[in-house]
Amino acid sequence: MSTRVVRQIVRAFEITEGAGVTVHRTIGTPALRNLDPFLMLDHFGSDDPDDYIAGFPSHPHRGFVTFTYMLDGHMEHRDSMGNCGDLRSGGAQWMKAASGVIHSEMPKQMDGLMRGFQLWINLPAAEKMSDPAYQEFTPHAIPEVVEDGRKVRVLAGEYGDQHGVIDDPGTDMQYLDVGLNAGAKFSLDLPASHTVFVCVYDGEAEIGGTKLPRYSLAVLGEGEKVEIQAGSEDTRFICVAGKPIGEPIVQHGPFVMNTRAEIEQAFRDYQTGQLVKKKALMTGR
Ligand code: FE2
Repeated sequence: MSTRVVRQIVRAFEITEGAGVTVHRTIGTPALRNLDPFLMLDHFGSDDPDDYIAGFPSHPHRGFVTFTYMLDGHMEHRDSMGNCGDLRSGGAQWMKAASGVIHSEMPKQMDGLMRGFQLWINLPAAEKMSDPAYQEFTPHAIPEVVEDGRKVRVLAGEYGDQHGVIDDPGTDMQYLDVGLNAGAKFSLDLPASHTVFVCVYDGEAEIGGTKLPRYSLAVLGEGEKVEIQAGSEDTRFICVAGKPIGEPIVQHGPFVMNTRAEIEQAFRDYQTGQLVKKKALMTGR
C-alpha cells in the first residue's frame, strides 16, 4: 500500500468578503483554482471584535454545498429556507444550496475568539438544480475517537468504529478534525481515487519529511495511505478527502455550474427573484 506524499503547498491568500471581512483562502485562488470535488476553502478567525462585526450579509448560492465548521466562537445563520441557526464552537453546518439559497452568515466571538473553516463542495450536474437541504449539528453530536495521543472528531466519513454525522453522497466526503499530542502520529487508509488535503491550524505537523506551515493547504499526491506526524507541540488539523466529480466547472462568484449559459441563467434568476425555488426545513441534532 503506497503512502501519499505532499504534492503542493498552497499559502493562504487574504481576501475581503462579505461586508469587508478578511478571510484566508487556499482552494479557490490563482495557485489552486479548484481541487475537484472541492471549490473553495476559507479559514476565518479573529481575536479583534471589530474584524468580523460586519459578517456576511444576505447573499445567494447555487450549484454546490457549503460546509462550515466552527472551531471557536459562533455563527448566526438565516436563510431563504426559513432556517435560523446558531452554529456553536465545535459544531458544523452542511448546506446544500443546489437550485438556490439566499442566506446571511454572521460570525460572533466567544471569550474574544472566533475561528472556523468554510469548504465549498461541488455537486454533480444531475444534482445542481435539485432541492436545497440544510443540516446543523451541535458540538456534542459529532462522534469522537480518543486513542493513544490522538483525538479525532468524525464530521463526515469514517474513522475507527465511528461514522460521521454528515453524508455527502455525491463525493463520499471524509472530513476529520484531528488533534495530536506533540510527536504523535496519525494514519488513515483512503480510496486511491479520492482527492485529499490537510490544513494545520494549531501547532506543526509533517508528512513524509515535508513540514506543513500553519493555515497553508497541503494537497496530497497519489496513494492509499495518509501518515501525519505532529511536531514538538500539540497539533490540530483538518484532513479532508472526496471523490472527484470530473465534470466541467464554470464559476462566477456565488454560482458554480457546468456551463456559461447556466451561470447566466443563475444571474437572471437572482435578479428577477427566481433563484429560490424551494424551501427546506432544518434537520440535524
Ligand atoms: Fe454563504
